[in-house]
Amino acid sequence: MNERQVHVLPSVGELQEAAARQVAEILTPTTAGKSVRIALSGGSTPRRMHELLADMPGINWSHVHVYFGDERTVGPDDPRSNYRMARETLLDRVPIPAGNVHRMRGEDPPAAAAAAYQQELIESFASDAGALPRFDLIILGMGADGHTASLFPGSTALHERSALVIANDVPQQSTTRITLTYPVLNAARQVLFLVAGGDKAPAIRDVLGEDETRRPPAAFVLPTDGESLWLLDAAAAEGLSEAR
Ligand code: 6PG
Repeated sequence: MNERQVHVLPSVGELQEAAARQVAEILTPTTAGKSVRIALSGGSTPRRMHELLADMPGINWSHVHVYFGDERTVGPDDPRSNYRMARETLLDRVPIPAGNVHRMRGEDPPAAAAAAYQQELIESFASDAGALPRFDLIILGMGADGHTASLFPGSTALHERSALVIANDVPQQSTTRITLTYPVLNAARQVLFLVAGGDKAPAIRDVLGEDETRRPPAAFVLPTDGESLWLLDAAAAEGLSEAR
């Protein structure tokens, strides 16, 4: 059974610094000309990590290929866009070729955008003919309800086992999101969760604790042949030792 590695950092700032170092390490092979494919997360926690990563040495950005774990159904310049957040905090700050950035087209009809992104994944991971796209790294966050990417509690995407990308209705947010599905997340070489804030502590206990009856969506991300690393701040890890 694949184990999760859990590291608790004293503050969210130290969590973001540790995360930037971890991502930079995954990207090191680019200096030897190896392509590395990573998927970014939306939300607020990755912002500072992106800014720190943009200034880190030892990365050849011409060999970094950036994808997204999910996207809101908005255009790329909308303040809610995960792509816009990544562009402002990372992509506009590094010499990454435009063709290396694979954006989910949130401005398109959701089902069409999901189908197009699935095709883009299949084509850009074509070297792994027939296999699931295997990301070198997928960065994920987690909401207080235990959602990750746009896999929300009670949503239909939780049951998807064939599509790689789907449009997922999220009634609790009165919206539709585009999201990678569990098959892709669990095919990754490494998933890296960044979770900060006391409001996340109950869901963290439900994910990492002993009680199998309370598993939220983030608990079902566990790569079958890869690593699962959770970086928590002390607030998000509150009460965890008793729960494990
Ligand atoms: C999104 C993210 C989402 C996010 C969590 C945590 O599109 O918002 O994909 O899954 O990671 O909601 O967000 P915070 O980092 O803001 O707590």
